[in-house]
Amino acid sequence: MAEQTLILIKPDGVKRRLTGEILRRIEAKGYQILDLRMFTPGRELLAQHYAEHEGKPFFEPLLEFMSSGSVVVVRAAGEGVIEGFRNIAGVSNPTEAAAGTIRGDLGRDWGVKVQQNLVHGSDSAVAAERELALWF
Ligand code: RTP
Ligand code: MG
Repeated sequence: MAEQTLILIKPDGVKRRLTGEILRRIEAKGYQILDLRMFTPGRELLAQHYAEHEGKPFFEPLLEFMSSGSVVVVRAAGEGVIEGFRNIAGVSNPTEAAAGTIRGDLGRDWGVKVQQNLVHGSDSAVAAERELALWF
C-alpha cells in the first residue's frame, strides 16, 4: 500500500475560498486523493490532534481558530507523500515560507494570536497513522 498522510485545509483556507487551489496543488504534484470530508471539528478532536502542543501559549488560540469553521480533511497517498506534502506546504510561519509553497504563495501573518497558515500535514509515519485514525 502506498504511503498515506493526513492533510487538513484549515478554516482560513476554506473561508478564503482556497480549497480548490490547495487540492489542485496536491493533485498537480502527483499525489492521489483517496478520501475527503468537510466539517467543523470539535474541541475534543482538536485537543487529541494537537496533544503535543498542550500547555503551550498558542494552544487555546489554536483550538479556537481550528474550531471556527469548516475544515477539509484529506487522505492523500503516494510514495514520499508525508515529506512531499510538508515541502509543498512550506514552513509554519507564512512570512518565512518560501515562494512556490502553499503557505509562501497564499499565506501571510494576520497579526493574530496564532499563525493561520492554511494547511496541516502529518509530520511522520507514526503521526500520519494516528491522525488518519482520528479524523476518518
Ligand atoms: P501543522 O501541525 O498544522 O501542520 O503545522 P506545523 O507542523 O508546521 O506547526 P506546529 O509546530 O505543529 O504547530 C501547529 C500549528 O499551531 C499554530 N502555531 N502558531 N507561535 C504561533 O503563533 C504558532 N505556533 C504554532 C500554527 O497554526 C501551526 O501550524
Ligand atoms: Mg505539526
